[in-house]
Amino acid sequence: MMSLSTGAAVLVALLVGVAGALYAYFTRHFGYWRRLGVPYLRPLPIAGNLKDVLLFRKHFGVVLRDVYTQMKDQPYVGMFFFDQPVLFVKDIELWKTIVIKDCDHFEDRGLSPLKSLRVFSETLFGLKGKKWKQLRTKLSPAFTLANIKKIYILLEQKAANLDHYFDDVVKSDMDGDVLVAQALSFLAAGFDTTSTTMSYALYELAMNEDIQEQLRTQLQETMEKHDGKLTYQALQSVNYLDMIFSETLRKYPVYPFLDRTCTKTYRMPGTDIVLDKGVFAFTSILGIQRDPQYFPEPERFDPERFSDANRGNIPSCCFMSFGEGPHKCLGLRLGYLQGKLGIAHIILNYRVHPCASTPKKMEFNLHSFLISPRDGVPLKFTRVTN
Ligand code: HEM
Repeated sequence: MMSLSTGAAVLVALLVGVAGALYAYFTRHFGYWRRLGVPYLRPLPIAGNLKDVLLFRKHFGVVLRDVYTQMKDQPYVGMFFFDQPVLFVKDIELWKTIVIKDCDHFEDRGLSPLKSLRVFSETLFGLKGKKWKQLRTKLSPAFTLANIKKIYILLEQKAANLDHYFDDVVKSDMDGDVLVAQALSFLAAGFDTTSTTMSYALYELAMNEDIQEQLRTQLQETMEKHDGKLTYQALQSVNYLDMIFSETLRKYPVYPFLDRTCTKTYRMPGTDIVLDKGVFAFTSILGIQRDPQYFPEPERFDPERFSDANRGNIPSCCFMSFGEGPHKCLGLRLGYLQGKLGIAHIILNYRVHPCASTPKKMEFNLHSFLISPRDGVPLKFTRVTN
C-alpha cells in the first residue's frame, strides 16, 4: 500500500506535470517572432500581450494605440493576442501594401466581435474567402448612390420623429434639459457605429461653440435656399457638416483598429521575413489618426483639416475610419448620411452646451468593443428660437 507521504509526492508530481503541460501548451507559439527575427513584445502565458485588456484596465483600442506610440520609428513589431501571433504594423506604406496591393495574401479580416456569434456567421463580418467575396459582390449594389437616395427619404421621416422625441424629453424634464446623447440611437437604430459617432460630434460641438454657431448658420442658410426643406441635395451641399463628421471620425474612430489574417504565406517586402498562413496583421487607426506627424495638434478638434483646400494634404491611408482595401466599410455613404442628417436636425433645433457632468476628457468604455464614451455624453440642450 502507498504511504501518505508517497501519495502526496505523487500528487505534487502530477500537479507539477499538469501545470508544466499547460504552460507548454499556452506558450507553444511564443518563439514565433524570435524565430523569424522580428522584434516583439514579451508575452505573458495565457494573456499574451493583452493583460491590461483582460484586467479591464485599458480599452483594446487604447492598448494598440499605446503600442503604436511607444514604437517610435519601428515599422512593425510582433505581438501575441493570447497565444495567437500578431504582426502589429505602424508603417503606413507597409499597411497599405497589406490591405491593398497584396490583399490577396490577406483575404480575411482577423478579429471581429460579431463573427463568433452564430447569427453573424453568414454575414460579411463572419464569412471568409470565396463566400465573403460572393456575398460582398451581391450586397454592394444595395449601397449605390441611387439606393442611398431612396433610403434618405425614410431617414428624413425618422429624423422628424427625432425632433418630436427631443421636444417631449426636453418638456418632460422639470429640472432643466440634460439629455444623454446616447438617445440618438433612436435615429440610428441598430447602427452603433453611426450613433456613437454622432454622440462624439455633439460633444465636440458643445465644447467648441464657435464651430457649432458656424454650422448652424450654414444649415439655416441652406434651408432658406431650399424652401425650408432638408432635402438630400440640401444636406450634401453643407460642406462644413461633412468636415465636422470627418473630423469627429478622425479623432474618434469608433472602430479603432484594422485587422487582417494572412491567408497565403507572405514574404514581407524588402525582407527575408516570411509570415505563415494564419498570422494576424493589425494596425491602430486611433494611433495613426492621433499621430502629430499626420495630424498636427491631434487632440484639437479642427474640421478645417477636411476643407477642400486642406483635405489633399492628408497622406493616403492616414484617414482610415472606414477601413481600406476590399474589406472597406460597405456602409460608408449611409453612415455619413445618417450621421449628418441627425446632427443637422439637432443643431437646427437646439443649442448644445456642456453641463456639470459633461466629461472634460473623454474616457472610453472598457466593456464595449467600439470606442464609446465611458460615461455617456451628458449635454444640455436648449431650443433655438429665431
Ligand atoms: C460611422 C459609421 C461607420 C463606421 C465608422 C464604420 C467603420 C467600419 C470599419 C472600420 C470596417 C472595417 C473595414 C476594414 O476592415 O477595412 C467596417 C466594415 C463594415 N461595415 Fe461599417 N462603419 C460604419 C457604418 C456602417 C453602416 C451604416 C453599415 C451598413 C449599413 C456598415 C456596414 C459594414 C459592413 C457590411 C462591413 C464589412 C465589410 C467587409 O468586410 O466586407 N457600416 N465598417
